[in-house]
Amino acid sequence: MTKIFTTILISMVMSMIVHGQGSIKPGELWPDSEGKHINAHGGAIIMHKGTWYWFGESRLPRGEQDRTRYGVGCYSSKDLVSWKNEGLALRVINDTSSLLQPGCVVERPKVIFNRKTGKFVMWFHHELRGQGYRAALTGVAVSDNIKGPYRYIRSLRPNAGVWPVNFTNEQKNYSVTEKDLKSWTEEWKQAVRDGLFVRRDFEGGQMARDMTLFIDVDGTAWHIHSAEENMTLHFSELTPDFLDFTGVYYRVLPGESNEAPAIFRAKGKYFMFSSGTTGWKPNPGRLSVSDAISGEWKATGNPCRGSEEENKITFGSQSTFVIPLNQKKDIFVYMGDRWNPQNLADSRHIWLPVEWENEMPLIRWHDEWDIKGIK
Ligand code: GAL
Repeated sequence: MTKIFTTILISMVMSMIVHGQGSIKPGELWPDSEGKHINAHGGAIIMHKGTWYWFGESRLPRGEQDRTRYGVGCYSSKDLVSWKNEGLALRVINDTSSLLQPGCVVERPKVIFNRKTGKFVMWFHHELRGQGYRAALTGVAVSDNIKGPYRYIRSLRPNAGVWPVNFTNEQKNYSVTEKDLKSWTEEWKQAVRDGLFVRRDFEGGQMARDMTLFIDVDGTAWHIHSAEENMTLHFSELTPDFLDFTGVYYRVLPGESNEAPAIFRAKGKYFMFSSGTTGWKPNPGRLSVSDAISGEWKATGNPCRGSEEENKITFGSQSTFVIPLNQKKDIFVYMGDRWNPQNLADSRHIWLPVEWENEMPLIRWHDEWDIKGIK
């Protein structure tokens, strides 16, 4: 008993030293209330009844043989600094007839609350066991309680049999296919911009890899995902219960290879942090802006204000979410991942305050900063 008490006390003290009260130290280990590094990657934060909840990929620690201990981790906090591990909100299903069986990949989970149904809805990028990243599916799960357990419903490729709203009749009827072109030539790039992959995937549904969710001011929820072989983002409207797609979707920044979308609304505009497509390796951050969620989105360049080296790798991170800390005062926090592909559970959390310059958001590096201080 005394031993347990001492262990808890030591980890609490450790947690305060590593992440002092109110203090965020991007890139360092971030111990939870049990002293373990927070295992919630590619994640997002949601506030519910005065508590913050952090959902993210709960990666198997290196050497862990039990593949059933994998899924979406949930943590809770009152101050965004000290986090309690609430366990797995969604867990793989130990049944080989389920798409969500051990060995599959669950990435970038996001949870939103549906006011009409009173349910919490989780969507996540889902890749199937033994298939690498080929499936490009999005999965959906639902729960009455924020912490879960979430009930897995299904995984799918969205918008089968429907054209994007911003797709011309000419684009619908082009006859050029992948076989006619050599990848990465100018002709191929133009064909991609003109919807080569949209047409290819029309019947089976559009690809869905890196993703996020966003609820607009009118209460409509959007599922935003890298589609078309990660060349183009799709902004897909969800049904009023948030459990399916309506078939209304827009292509955004066609052929620009955006991943890791993180959306927020401020100053009457919509902003998006995103990355290029270099796998686990960080690349130059990107910022885009739009007057409406459905577009027209305009890329405005790299939001990082560091050294040339730092800007090239977004301070060693890839965007995952923007926390609306105080929407009325335009106070937001950039959340990113510094991936460690050798040991994904050890990937570090890069949280930085969103700063403003000429009405545009930007990020600067801080070794340590006080999240309470920016409220
Ligand atoms: C990244 C993506 C990550 C993960 C990784 C796999 O580009 O953002 O979420 O899918 O590729 O290589």
